[in-house]
Amino acid sequence: GITRHYKFNIKLQNVTRLCQTKSILTVNGQFPGPQIIAREGDTVLVKVVNHVTNNVTLHWHGVRQLSSGWADGPAYITQCPIQTGQSYVYNFTITGQRGTLFWHAHISWLRVTLHGPIVILPKKGVRYPFPLPHKEVPIIFGEWWKADTETIINQALQIGGAPNVSDAFTINGLPGPLYNCSAKDTFKLKVKPGKTYLLRLINAALNDELFFSIANHSLTVVEADAVYVKPFKTSTVLITPGQTTNVLLKTNHHTPNATFLIAARPYATGPGAFDNTTTAGILEYHQPSSSSNTKKNIKLALLKPTLPVFNDTTFATNFSKKLRSLATSKFPANVPKTVDKRFFFTVGLGLSPCFQNKTCQGPNNTRLAATINNVSFVQPNTALLQAHFFKQSKGVYTTDFPANPPVKFNYTGTPPTNIMVNNGTKVLVLRFNTSVELVMQDTSIIGAESHPLHLHGFNFFVVGQGFGNYDPKKDPAKFNLVDPAERNTVGVPSGGWVAIRFLADNPGVWFMHCHLEVHTSWGLKMAWIVMDGKHPSQKLPPPPPDLPKC
Ligand code: C2O
Repeated sequence: GITRHYKFNIKLQNVTRLCQTKSILTVNGQFPGPQIIAREGDTVLVKVVNHVTNNVTLHWHGVRQLSSGWADGPAYITQCPIQTGQSYVYNFTITGQRGTLFWHAHISWLRVTLHGPIVILPKKGVRYPFPLPHKEVPIIFGEWWKADTETIINQALQIGGAPNVSDAFTINGLPGPLYNCSAKDTFKLKVKPGKTYLLRLINAALNDELFFSIANHSLTVVEADAVYVKPFKTSTVLITPGQTTNVLLKTNHHTPNATFLIAARPYATGPGAFDNTTTAGILEYHQPSSSSNTKKNIKLALLKPTLPVFNDTTFATNFSKKLRSLATSKFPANVPKTVDKRFFFTVGLGLSPCFQNKTCQGPNNTRLAATINNVSFVQPNTALLQAHFFKQSKGVYTTDFPANPPVKFNYTGTPPTNIMVNNGTKVLVLRFNTSVELVMQDTSIIGAESHPLHLHGFNFFVVGQGFGNYDPKKDPAKFNLVDPAERNTVGVPSGGWVAIRFLADNPGVWFMHCHLEVHTSWGLKMAWIVMDGKHPSQKLPPPPPDLPKC
């Protein structure tokens, strides 16, 4: 591969949406941010220069970062933030991956505006396992708030209540014609009849899983989280924050100059409020110029797609069950067949004491918290990876993250009476090359809810999922070890569980968290430490000299 250089200047930019101008954090003044394009095997160097007063880090979501853990980016996990006036070069090689991923800020809620596509093309001369598309189009979903980001975060953290929902969802930064004062800010996809387009869908929204559809067109899903899947047709795609999905759109032959709506809106199962509005773009057919004489007057009305209702868990379940690895000799599914370590994590909400001198919105002046195995993760003041590498864990983290919930209960039934959480910076340590099976169970504490869990540093296989309480006696017999979806973010179903397997073949400290930003902030996160292997190539190299200091 070759080396590709990018320079990302973090700076403020005035952007107007919904008739209101706001100064937002951007990369190089762009919103959404610039696209990174590389081929499998290439090395990517991104020099990030911080020109704003916020501390910043960037994360290359889904990039495996084999032996390059220092470039992963989550603040206080793999690095201290880049401070005002400072810079850091993220240096990583893309190994064994091709497809769509994305980059985003990984500190506080800054990813609300700091995000952009990562397009990884196959190696030169290597084809897609599907027909070559006429064109490729990244489509990145986001959220837009009229209020400034600080206000929203404070609402979710300081007073411990549910945050304000966004004022609009966006397609490539544009809310579209269904919002007031927004018609001119509409994403347009211009297409020709009878061609195939590859849409690279990315959900960069903060707090919402989304349904996506195009009126009168079906979509063929060919890839999820930068792994090819067995192609299947669908009218609607479900995409959680942190997920990416490539779909083929075949345009009709006989619809010259017609327009159709492209639309996305939430899939929501939680107890809290959500924004049930729809972002829309326009699919616009253009005649090839040779036949422009037939162009006149054949305008169809703008057709709207039908999307599932907001809480259609049946659709969500069926959709995720259709995702299967290609599992061919060229693109094998290397599912771990044996398991060295089994873990069972409950994921859900709970309550925590209010911060000092604050008035909180939860019952008896508590604030909302979120946990894995009842541990609400406390962000350390220094980066875990540094503490691990220099063997200075004392006072930074402890290695007693529970492998199982501390108290067994009926996870999908009546919650226990005491739902106060444990706060701590706890990690789980794995020997190099441990084969891990992890079952994640949604709890009904405060309310059942689908949680998109994201693991840094690995792809995992989704070997099973179901509703109710996971049954370790019966459920493993139904696991798919042949062609399960391989991905980096999976929706733990509302009122159910999901089982994943991965091989811990990447030394470093790897964050795992719910990709709903509000849940991450409330503590639904933890970290795995994967120890070095024996061979030099299985060891984490020392940190780069420009690694930011805390
Ligand atoms: Cu896309 Cu840790 O996140």
